[in-house]
Amino acid sequence: MSQREQWSSKIGFILAAAGSAIGLGAIWKFPYIAGQNGGGAFFLIFILFTLLLGLPLLLAEFSIGRTAESNAVDSYRKIAPGTRWHWVGILGMVTSFILLSFYSVIGGWIVVYLFKAITGQLNNLSSDQYAEVFGATISNPVTSVFVQFLFILMTIIVVAKGVQKGIELASKIMMPALFILFILLVVRAVTLDNAMAGITFLLQPDFSKVTSQTILEAMGQSFFTLSVGVSVMVTYSSYLPKTQSLPRSAISIVAMNIFIVLLAGLAIFPAVFAFDLEPGAGPVLLFNVLPTVFSQLPFGMLFFIAFLVLFLFAALTSAFSMLEIIVSVISKGEPEKRKKWSWIIGLAIFVFGIPSALSFGILGDITLFDKTIFDLADFAVSNVLLPIGSLLIALFVPMKMKKTALYEELKQGSGLKRGLFETWFFLIRFVAPLLIVIVMLDVLGLF
Ligand code: ALA
Repeated sequence: MSQREQWSSKIGFILAAAGSAIGLGAIWKFPYIAGQNGGGAFFLIFILFTLLLGLPLLLAEFSIGRTAESNAVDSYRKIAPGTRWHWVGILGMVTSFILLSFYSVIGGWIVVYLFKAITGQLNNLSSDQYAEVFGATISNPVTSVFVQFLFILMTIIVVAKGVQKGIELASKIMMPALFILFILLVVRAVTLDNAMAGITFLLQPDFSKVTSQTILEAMGQSFFTLSVGVSVMVTYSSYLPKTQSLPRSAISIVAMNIFIVLLAGLAIFPAVFAFDLEPGAGPVLLFNVLPTVFSQLPFGMLFFIAFLVLFLFAALTSAFSMLEIIVSVISKGEPEKRKKWSWIIGLAIFVFGIPSALSFGILGDITLFDKTIFDLADFAVSNVLLPIGSLLIALFVPMKMKKTALYEELKQGSGLKRGLFETWFFLIRFVAPLLIVIVMLDVLGLF
């Protein structure tokens, strides 16, 4: 498939980029990290980082991609020939590789829950029983690795075929359907007894819970949910026609993401408090809470199945983008190579991710810095590699791209006003690098 044919329509790009952004980060990761970090204050800091760093960085990646019209590595080479800046793209590939290795573990959990829900194994259980069933499932080594494999397999098949067009089409229906089901879920959750405690937990900041670690997690979370720092958005925007408004695309993706994060929080926390569950339960939080909320709805299991299908789709569209960025660099857009490399890299990611899948069972006792292998992979990506990638992108844009050319690029298709452009440029040039460095040094106790 030639790269230039990739987006069949303007909306196709937005859907694919939003598909890359919206996924496990907003739906699964946000509630559990917020739960571990005291709720409201974390949510507020996350929103601030998303607006001050995530949005400007997304726009920065878009402008790199559309200026260079190339893949994640060659884009940097084209703009800054003869320099080492293309290592930013290589770092993005490495980050995507590790990210997908643990992402697929959670993707596998959705697959196994879907199977259990369809075969009636989740009917009429209590909230404790849901947690028990789930705990037993993910600690089973064969099951957890097998479903992780299935998730990777689906990702490989789509990326190998280069059938993104089909995905674009499906996104048009699946994404809005996911929003609608989420709203339904929120309505049920916030009308549970004691729901107010959960709403307060999410929306009322308690700054006494904020530590340098909380701030780092909130920053990492804002990069993770937007897929910035890995040059995925450089790759996706390189296929864009000049008529498309980059700022409007970035704003709509950020808005959708914040909306989904809010919905996820409002669906989970009222239920956590209503059913007396533990907000700091960790990665299993969503999976323990959701079936209980759905079981409170008429035809709950049917809705739950529909939700899992849409959730799986959202996770897959993010996974595609992570594999796509690596494959598009290595295969240079040649269809035969694309197929081969999708399989080779996809399977390598699967093998690399097996220890993460086993961290919820037989390898659960193996820890480093107090973290399981899964937690360590997640931490390395969200709180180290994504911030470093984002920092480098924030440095690259003002250092290697001409300001006037950047303005022209961003103005095309959008008519962007000078003042807004200057604000963005200021955020990228000064605010983003400074904030990222301060947050990272602070957590190391060096600040
Ligand atoms: N941005 C992707 C997600 O949030 C990685 O799931």
